[in-house]
Amino acid sequence: MSAMNQDQLKANVGRRAASYIEPNLTAKSVIGVGTGSTANYFIDALADSKNKFYGAVASSEATADRLNHYGIRVYDLNEFDEILYYIDGADESNGNLELIKGGGGALTREKIVASVAREFICIIDESKQVNVLGSFPLPVEVIPMARSAVARKLVGLGGQPVYRHDFVTDNGNVILDVHGLDMSNPTKVEDSINGLPGVVTQGLFAKRPADLLLVARKSGDVDEVRRQAAF
Ligand code: A5P
Repeated sequence: MSAMNQDQLKANVGRRAASYIEPNLTAKSVIGVGTGSTANYFIDALADSKNKFYGAVASSEATADRLNHYGIRVYDLNEFDEILYYIDGADESNGNLELIKGGGGALTREKIVASVAREFICIIDESKQVNVLGSFPLPVEVIPMARSAVARKLVGLGGQPVYRHDFVTDNGNVILDVHGLDMSNPTKVEDSINGLPGVVTQGLFAKRPADLLLVARKSGDVDEVRRQAAF
C-alpha cells in the first residue's frame, strides 16, 4: 500500500476509535466527543453505531452540529455524573500521553468533558508525537478584558503570547497562542498558567492526560499506547 496522506491517517484513526469503543457500548452509555478534523472522522465512523448507545456530550457547537446531523442524540453534561469515554484529537502528545490541545479553540469544553470521562482516548496521526511538548504554541483561553494583563504575565513565565485575531471561543472569550515556553515540566506550566487571573483554561492536558493514545502511521497501522501508571 502507498503511504497515506494526513487526512487518510486521521480518517483511519477515527475509524479505529469507533471500532475500539463499539463492543463496550450499551443503551446507557454516554460518550464525550471532541473537536477538530480527527474528531470529525470519528463522528462519521460512529454514526453507524448510533442506536447502540444513549447519546453524546459535545465539546463544541461545531461538534454538536455534526452529531445532530447524523441523528446522534446530544445532551448537556450537567445531566451526568460520569461519562464512559472521551474521544478527541490533539495537536501534540509526548510519551507520557500529556497533550497540547486547542488548535481549534475548543480547549475549555474539551478539558471539562475529559475531566469527567472514565477513559480518555486520544486519536492522532504520527506527525503529532513529540519527545517534548511545545513546538505547537500553547493555546490559552482568556476573558477579553484580561487579554493584555495575562499576556504580560505569560511573558514573565518565559513565553511569547500571540493574540489569535478574529477568533472568539464558544464561551465568548479570546485565545492567546503562547510560543517558547519551557515544557520540561508540563504539570508545573499548567498550574502556573491556571493561576493567572483572567485565564479560563489552557490547552495543556498534563494533569488529566490521555489514558489511551491511538496513533495512525503512514504504513496504515494504528498503534495503541496505554499510559503507564505513575508511581
Ligand atoms: C480543538 O480545539 C483541538 O483541541 C483539536 O483536538 C486539535 O487541534 C486537533 O485538531 P485536528 O484533529 O483538526 O488536527
